[in-house]
Amino acid sequence: MTKTPQVSKSFQILEQLSLAVIVIGQDGFIRFCNQQASMMFGQSKKKLATVKLWDLFIRHTFPERLLDELWECNRSFFDNDVEFMFADGRSITTEVTADSMHLDGEIGCLLQIRQNDNLRKINQENAQKHHISASRHLIRGLAHEIKNPLGGIRGAAQLLSRSLDSDELKEYTQLIMEQSDRLRDLVDRLLGPNTLPKRSATNIHVVLERIFSLVMLDKPVNVSFQRDYDPSLPTTVLDPNQIEQAVLNIVRNGMQALAEHFDKTSSDETPKLIMQTRFAGNVVMQDKRFKQTIKISIIDNGGGISEKLIGTIFYPLVSTKSDGNGLGLSITQTLIDQHRGKIEVESVPGKTAFNIYLPIIQDNEGSDL
Ligand SMILES: Nc1ncnc2c1ncn2[C@@H]1O[C@H](COP(=O)(O)OP(=O)(O)OP(=O)(O)O)[C@@H](O)[C@H]1O
Ligand SMILES: [Mg+2]
Repeated sequence: MTKTPQVSKSFQILEQLSLAVIVIGQDGFIRFCNQQASMMFGQSKKKLATVKLWDLFIRHTFPERLLDELWECNRSFFDNDVEFMFADGRSITTEVTADSMHLDGEIGCLLQIRQNDNLRKINQENAQKHHISASRHLIRGLAHEIKNPLGGIRGAAQLLSRSLDSDELKEYTQLIMEQSDRLRDLVDRLLGPNTLPKRSATNIHVVLERIFSLVMLDKPVNVSFQRDYDPSLPTTVLDPNQIEQAVLNIVRNGMQALAEHFDKTSSDETPKLIMQTRFAGNVVMQDKRFKQTIKISIIDNGGGISEKLIGTIFYPLVSTKSDGNGLGLSITQTLIDQHRGKIEVESVPGKTAFNIYLPIIQDNEGSDL
C-alpha cells in the first residue's frame, strides 16, 4: 500500500524527533519505533520490530501496573523517573509518557521516552553546590567567632605563666596554650585555603609524581600504589601546590580506607590505589561546557562509601574516623572550585573512584580566571 503524502510526512517528523517514540500492543510486542528509540535502546529498528519491549531490559522500573489501567480504561500516565537497565550493564534514566491509541483494530500504547540523566545530574549538582556553600558560610562565620577569643585566651595563659614560679602550675598554663594552638589549627583549616592560586603552566604528572613520592614514604607496605598516566596530556595553567594538596587529601583518604577495610577482612585481594589521568571531553563545569578537560581519577578497592554518607562527604565536618576532622574533601572541593574544575565520586563496595576534572588552559587564557 502506498502511503498518502500526509502520512509519510508524519512518519518523517517522528523520525526527526529527539524523543524516542514506541508503540506497543497489549502483547508487549513493538509495533513501531522511531530512529531515536533505536539509538536509545542500542538495537536496530528491524530487531526492535520483532521483540517484546520488556525483553530488551534485564531490569526496569516502568510502572507496568499503570499499563493495565491504560488497556482497561484508556488512562494515560506520566512518570519522570523510569530506569531501564540493559544486559551490557548500561542503564538510562528517563521520563515516560504513555497514551492509548487505536492501532489497526486493536488498542496500542504510544510511549514517548526522553532520557533525562544529564538534566537530573545537573540539578543534583546545583542543589548540592548550594547546600555545601550554605554550610561553609555558616562554619566560616563560626570559625571567625572562635578565633578571636582564642587569641585572647592563649595570650592570657602566656602572661600568667611568666608570673608563676611553680613548675606544676606552669604545666597548666602550658596545657592551655597547647590546646589553644590545636584549636587554632583546626579553625584555620575550617576557614579553608586563604591564599589565591598562584598559577603557572604545569604538567599535571609532575604534581602527581610529587604526591606519589610523598605517599610512598609512609604508605602501608601491603598496599600497591599504581600510576596510570596518559602521557599525551598537555600542560595547563594551575597552581601546582593547591592541586597537590587537593589530590593528596583524596589519596590519603584512599590509603586510610584501604587500611581500614583490609585490616577487618581476610581477603586475598591486594589493596590497591591507582592514580589515573585521561582526557575527558564535553564536560560541564561551573555552568560552562568544556570540549576537553584533564580527568584525574583516584581509584581504590576498599570497602566503599555507604549510600547514606555519599551525598554529604564533601560537606565540612563529615567524617567516619575517630581522629578525622572531616575537612579533607571540603578543602579539596574548594581548591578545585577555585580552578574552575569539578570533583565527583562514584563508589560501590570494592571500588571507589574520585574524579577531578580540570579545564585545559593555555598560558594566555589563564588571566581571565
Ligand atoms: N576512598 C574512600 N573510601 C571510603 N570512604 C571514604 C573515602 N574517601 C572519603 N571517605 C569518607 O569520607 C569521609 C570524609 O572525608 P574527609 O577527607 O573530608 O574527612 P576525614 O578524612 O574523615 O578527615 P580529615 O581529612 O579532615 O582528616 C571520611 O571520613 C570517610 O568516611
Ligand atoms: Mg581525609
